[in-house]
Amino acid sequence: MEYTDKVMEHFMNPRNIGEMENPDGVGKVGNPSCGDIMELFIRVEDDRVTEASFRTFGCGAAIATSSIITEMVKGKTLQQALEITNMQVAEQLGGLPDTKLHCSNLAADALKEAIEDYRRKQDDPNAE
Ligand code: FES
Repeated sequence: MEYTDKVMEHFMNPRNIGEMENPDGVGKVGNPSCGDIMELFIRVEDDRVTEASFRTFGCGAAIATSSIITEMVKGKTLQQALEITNMQVAEQLGGLPDTKLHCSNLAADALKEAIEDYRRKQDDPNAE
């Protein structure tokens, strides 16, 4: 199995790693096929994602996709962020081996969850 240089680079030097203090939205998803888990935190201002960070317990591809999605999403409107697909995440990394494509679902799904969480909290500020 071959990872691109970009995958390796994000795996070895992940960007925006770690839990965020007082995030505006949190998305947590698990991959049922391998048991890996990703948590994605976002900060939102004026309907735009200004900051994102992650915690991932998973394979190299899961870590690389988490890392790059935190960069891809920065500055995007919530609508643009929702439109990021797992294929786009994989493309940004120069591709993923076929057997690892499912790993990129975690990143896109966690981002969607984080945005939904943010919107839920906007509707009901007392929601946890
Ligand atoms: Fe679990 Fe990649 S093998 S996310």
